Amino acid sequence: MLLTQNENQVKDAAVQFDNVFNRIENKLDKIALIGLGYVGLPIALEFAKHFKVVGFDINAKRIGMMKNNVDPSGEVEASEFENKTISFTHEMSDLNDARFYIVAVPTPIDAFKQPDLTILKAATKTVGKTLKKGDYVVFESTVYPGCTEEVCVPILEKESGLKFNVDFKVGYSPERINPGDKKNTIDKIVKIVSGSDDVSLDQIAQVYESIIKAGIHRAPTMKVAEAAKIVENTQRDVNIALMNELSLIFENLNVNTFDVLEAAGTKWNFLNFYPGLVGGHCIGVDPYYLIQKSIRTGHNPILISAGRSVNDGMPGKIAKRVATQLEQAGVEAKKSKVLVMGITFKENVTDIRNSKAADLYKGLQQYCGQVDVVDPLADPEDVRNHYKIEMRPVPANDYDAVVVAVSHEEYTEMSESDFQNYCNANALFVDVKGIKRGKINTMKYCSL
Ligand SMILES: NC(=O)c1ccc[n+]([C@@H]2O[C@H](COP(=O)([O-])OP(=O)(O)OC[C@H]3O[C@@H](n4cnc5c(N)ncnc54)[C@H](O)[C@@H]3O)[C@@H](O)[C@H]2O)c1
Repeated sequence: MLLTQNENQVKDAAVQFDNVFNRIENKLDKIALIGLGYVGLPIALEFAKHFKVVGFDINAKRIGMMKNNVDPSGEVEASEFENKTISFTHEMSDLNDARFYIVAVPTPIDAFKQPDLTILKAATKTVGKTLKKGDYVVFESTVYPGCTEEVCVPILEKESGLKFNVDFKVGYSPERINPGDKKNTIDKIVKIVSGSDDVSLDQIAQVYESIIKAGIHRAPTMKVAEAAKIVENTQRDVNIALMNELSLIFENLNVNTFDVLEAAGTKWNFLNFYPGLVGGHCIGVDPYYLIQKSIRTGHNPILISAGRSVNDGMPGKIAKRVATQLEQAGVEAKKSKVLVMGITFKENVTDIRNSKAADLYKGLQQYCGQVDVVDPLADPEDVRNHYKIEMRPVPANDYDAVVVAVSHEEYTEMSESDFQNYCNANALFVDVKGIKRGKINTMKYCSL
């Protein structure tokens, strides 16, 4: 039915943006979570303690698991699904009665280390197709400053035929969740929120305030909120890169970097960072978003780029170092047998995406005779599919070197004799994370 201009004006006047929180609070409107991974599912379940939520994901298999109280990412306990007002779906039509959309889909980099927004654009298109007057869309995916307004808003407008800030409003609220961390859970981390104007900022802030006990920070613009997230991870990346570079310098000087950092750390303003592998889909990825945006807007960020290059180069450097140490110990590297302990991207998680431990494994393969991998948390099938690496269920007992690449709790609790059981006499213990510093007395010890 065609509306007259007057009727249209009346309809427009009815678009109300300042009561969305009220309607959600009174369970008149639903929140929709788009993308139920490491970030989306915990948020959805937290909101579902108080409000009506629909969780949408394109992956029907994952949805099937969540319907059975199973988190496919292995982070959320089955009990946390109980007594929640949430439905899980992969059908777009189930999004029709939502009024507040939160998008939490992956924002990876491509083979050329450029931001790959394909998934974000697809998810935004999904929301655009279901968008109604008066709706809100909040993006949580990590992006470069300006992305929400420059990339997502035009897609929402095109798909919906609605007008930004007139018919629908948008916000950006970066996620700081830390997978594997049972202490700093979502409600305990201060949340940055932003909106496309004052009304939306206020409404979005109220929605998040109702679940985040730690409180929220209202950023003045979406660009500030986007930049804040990317800067957090870039700062970490650059600082770790500095530690990694120091470890390369100190290797040649025959000094243990952890000893140096312990001594330097006695000064009140010395920053607490350590060398190590930087993988995963946040710290090792997000700086590339800032680098690309920076270059496109006229500045070549040499420091940030150098940090990335140092960190990405570490697996190869460590592999070479293991080979050198083996040779120095009288073991021909090409005939050596090495065990890598840990293949996930960091400690105490099952996630193997962008794992630098996997790069270390590949580096070791170039120098050593046989390289085996074990990991108590990684799924062997995932590792096979993702890296074409066949993990061992248990280690053998004749290794020339043990490389503890990931500091899983299980490994931190092991003693030197536990590691020695896997090894030949006089084997090398490579402590990538420095977890056994001062505790290895018989084996030949090597850390960054
Ligand atoms: N994982 C972290 O530690 C973390 C922390 C802070 C921020 N982030 C950011 O949050 C975002 C999400 O990351 P994640 O780790 O939760 O990703 P993830 O890979 O764990 O999960 C993403 C989910 O989105 C689904 N999905 C993909 N395309 C979709 C689409 N078009 N529509 C609906 N669902 C879709 C996938 O099936 C998957 O279930 C990223 O931008 C990431 O950088 C992640």
